[in-house]
Amino acid sequence: MKNIVILISGRGSNMQAVVEADIPGARIAAVLSNNPDAAGLAWAAERGIATTALNHRDFADRDAFDSAMAELIDQHQPDLVVLAGFMRILTPAFCARYAGRMINIHPSLLPAFPGLHTHQRALDEGCRVAGCTIHFVTAVLDDGPIIAQGVVPVLDGDNADTLAARVLTAEHRLLPQAVADFVAGKLSVSGKRVQNPRSVAADAQLLV
Ligand code: GRF
Repeated sequence: MKNIVILISGRGSNMQAVVEADIPGARIAAVLSNNPDAAGLAWAAERGIATTALNHRDFADRDAFDSAMAELIDQHQPDLVVLAGFMRILTPAFCARYAGRMINIHPSLLPAFPGLHTHQRALDEGCRVAGCTIHFVTAVLDDGPIIAQGVVPVLDGDNADTLAARVLTAEHRLLPQAVADFVAGKLSVSGKRVQNPRSVAADAQLLV
């Protein structure tokens, strides 16, 4: 069994998608948050999953918060750490500690639009498609080797909310797949390229 620790900051719908996928060989060991009010914490606790909030405001700086978070994570002996809407920039030391075993979901087709407000930026640029990216985490924000990408159309009349909702459906399908592929040992990284036997065409058919 592989232990999965999921980090969230809010609603936690991606975390829910991973839990509900009931991935063979995976055990959701804990759901952790930097935000004590994160709605996803209560959802996970109701299902008997260990949850802890570590309020980043209680720490003097980023290093102190990340060290405490790492200590907490390591109590669950994680094989994989999943950043599922975890809205904190991580220190290089934290990223190095979980190198090759920490993934993030980002709501854009990276390398376009790293950072915040991705949907509005895609609309402002007149993009015809938008989507999400799941990638291994490195010390560079939203930049690690790409595991999977889901594409959705940008429609006339979209605003940031309607586009975000469409992208979110893609996130909910792709993140559990990526976790399952990691758990099954199907992903290998060579430079920035991830060898992923899952076909991109199959992902696209699922998502459009
Ligand atoms: C998702 O769109 C995720 O990609 C982004 O923040 C949102 C979190 O949603 N980083 P949820 O908490 O998983 O519902």
